[in-house]
Amino acid sequence: MSGALLEVNSISVSFDGFKAINNLSFNIDSGELRAIIGPNGAGKTTFMDIVTGKTRPDEGDVIWGEDNVSLVRKSESDIANLGIGRKFQKPTVFEDQSVTENLMMALRNKRNPLAVLFYKSTRKDRNAVLSIAFDIGLESNVDQRAGDLSHGRKQWLEIGMLLAQEPQLLLVDEPAAGMTVDERNQTIALLKHAAKTRAVVVVEHDMEFIRNLDCKVTVLHEGSVLAEGTLDHVTKNQTVIDVYLGR
Ligand SMILES: Nc1ncnc2c1ncn2[C@@H]1O[C@H](COP(=O)(O)OP(=O)(O)O)[C@@H](O)[C@H]1O
Ligand SMILES: [Mg+2]
Repeated sequence: MSGALLEVNSISVSFDGFKAINNLSFNIDSGELRAIIGPNGAGKTTFMDIVTGKTRPDEGDVIWGEDNVSLVRKSESDIANLGIGRKFQKPTVFEDQSVTENLMMALRNKRNPLAVLFYKSTRKDRNAVLSIAFDIGLESNVDQRAGDLSHGRKQWLEIGMLLAQEPQLLLVDEPAAGMTVDERNQTIALLKHAAKTRAVVVVEHDMEFIRNLDCKVTVLHEGSVLAEGTLDHVTKNQTVIDVYLGR
């Protein structure tokens, strides 16, 4: 038995006869920061869909946590409650609510979804919200309407809302898309900070972004792991160059 937080064991899934994930296996350790790269259609998003219960694999298993719980027949909400948070490409914040209100809702939602309706915020919660706002670089925006934030800041707010739910694993799909260079650099800092207290898996195309994340990299191709290791290691792999980097 390994000490991995997440074990992906020989999963496969086909869509209309096309094998999007093909006997995929790899592990994520507790507290690890991991980048996943690979060409379009390699199966990166589908991998996240399977881990989060959005897509069921045809074969294989995904094993979670110390108790080795199988995730593949669990619902999306059960998987979220087990401690896996996911950030989609498009931010889904409550546009008419302030940054503070968005974070407060996410915090309450963790404890008891009904508490969102009947709730008086405590000083402890307000401090927790401020601490998250600081971690996501929005400490000067706490009273701002979320809809008025820049695209990059909305992304950070959504990451903050996920952090409020204290996931043990955070999955982030293409966070740098549409961001300025400054926003990208701040996103890198934010993800590194988040990975101090949980595992974070980042799918991203931007090589500069991946280099600055400075973590282990998994290269996916045609639904399988093509290479794994440091960025320098995988970028020397001739097949990686042929199918991904050289294009
Ligand atoms: N729900 C789906 N129905 C049909 N085909 C899908 C579905 N999800 C993904 N695919 C296909 O599976 C392949 C892998 O897609 P995806 O995981 O989105 O790749 P990536 O995120 O690496 O670009 C693609 O060929 C895509 O068209
Ligand atoms: Mg994708």
